[in-house]
Amino acid sequence: MSILITGGAGYIGSHTCIELLEAGFNIVVADNLCNSSREALKRVEKLTNKTIPFYPVDVRNQKAMTDVFKAHTIEAVIHFAGLKSVGQSTQMPRTYYDNNVIGTLKLIEVMEQFDVRHLVFSSSATVYGDPSTVPITEDMPTGATTNPYGRSKYIVEEMLKDISIADDKWNFTILRYFNPVGAHKSGQIGEDPKGIPNNLVPFIAQVAVGKREQLSVFGDDYDTKDGTGVRDYIHIVDLAEGHVAALKTHRQDSGLHIYNLGSGTGSSVLEMLKAFEKSCGKTLPHAIQPRRPGDIAECYADPAFAQKALNWKATHTIEAMTDDTWRWQSGNPNGYES
Ligand code: NAD
Ligand code: UD1
Repeated sequence: MSILITGGAGYIGSHTCIELLEAGFNIVVADNLCNSSREALKRVEKLTNKTIPFYPVDVRNQKAMTDVFKAHTIEAVIHFAGLKSVGQSTQMPRTYYDNNVIGTLKLIEVMEQFDVRHLVFSSSATVYGDPSTVPITEDMPTGATTNPYGRSKYIVEEMLKDISIADDKWNFTILRYFNPVGAHKSGQIGEDPKGIPNNLVPFIAQVAVGKREQLSVFGDDYDTKDGTGVRDYIHIVDLAEGHVAALKTHRQDSGLHIYNLGSGTGSSVLEMLKAFEKSCGKTLPHAIQPRRPGDIAECYADPAFAQKALNWKATHTIEAMTDDTWRWQSGNPNGYES
């Protein structure tokens, strides 16, 4: 029996592959490599001393996906495959709905054909929009999303709810990630954004390694501890372990399960910058700029439900997140092309 990992060559997928293999699962990866490199999986194989069956296929290609299900006995699917750039989604909404929404629907159809009923879905804290209070619990309202990327995640969540109501054989786990950062301790795998990074920590890492001149801090006039935006950064290995815990907890279940995967701690932009400066031993140039449109002041999880139900907890500190990012970035200044 194997777990199929769609998008397994990507940032979260590759780290989750390691944790699954180390937990004794057999895995199979399907990824069209539109935002990742084959090299990531080769490194996962080296680190774990295991071989990963890999299919360079698009999840929307049902014929190719059928062949994957024919070749392996699939027990469950962790579905990471999708596009994730907020800015790009506003320029190319059809591409985002096609990949993220239609892609998931087509995957579910193939799963049903093979009577594979267990799916773990990558959702995002973005489904909460601008929360009325923090910390955010799973029962808070969702749907007030501000961009096509966020809406694609919300639509898939609603779709999974409807499907599980109509057919109680399905076993869906929706994981709402907060802000994944960091890299594997080995420094061999990490986040490898294409072009200019949109997210804070990859941008700081590229300033530290000399690829970008300075960090723009988007706003210092928010009603937060130091005026800059506050987020719930979660170490990528904690996040990956959350998937293993979710998979194990709900192995024999049916129905719909929803969890926040966050650390429960809010950190500001300036706090992250300071932590990174400590990790790399340099002062990093930065300038205060206007707020980024669509940004919110503060967002962090109440992770209590996941802690209790999944017996899982994020344990890595901010310092571990920036230390590990720096080890990866400095050892691989050009990512997997280094
Ligand atoms: P990523 O881009 O590194 O990984 C996604 C992987 O999916 C890539 O390897 C890409 O090549 C592959 N892929 C995309 N479309 C595909 C398709 N149609 N068929 C096959 N493969 C396809 O992104 P990530 O950060 O690892 O994110 C994984 C998932 O988690 C995504 O669904 C993303 O939306 C979600 N998510 C990410 C974050 C984050 O901050 N990284 C936060 C919340 C949710
Ligand atoms: C962004 C996405 C969100 C996605 C999440 C994944 C937007 C509007 N939202 O959220 O949909 O789920 O990433 O991790 O893009 N910052 C700077 N300078 C920078 C980059 C960021 O000051 O160069 C600040 C931001 O204003 C914010 C914080 O850093 O306060 C974190 O930003 P980012 O890493 O982009 O994550 P989110 O805004 O939480």
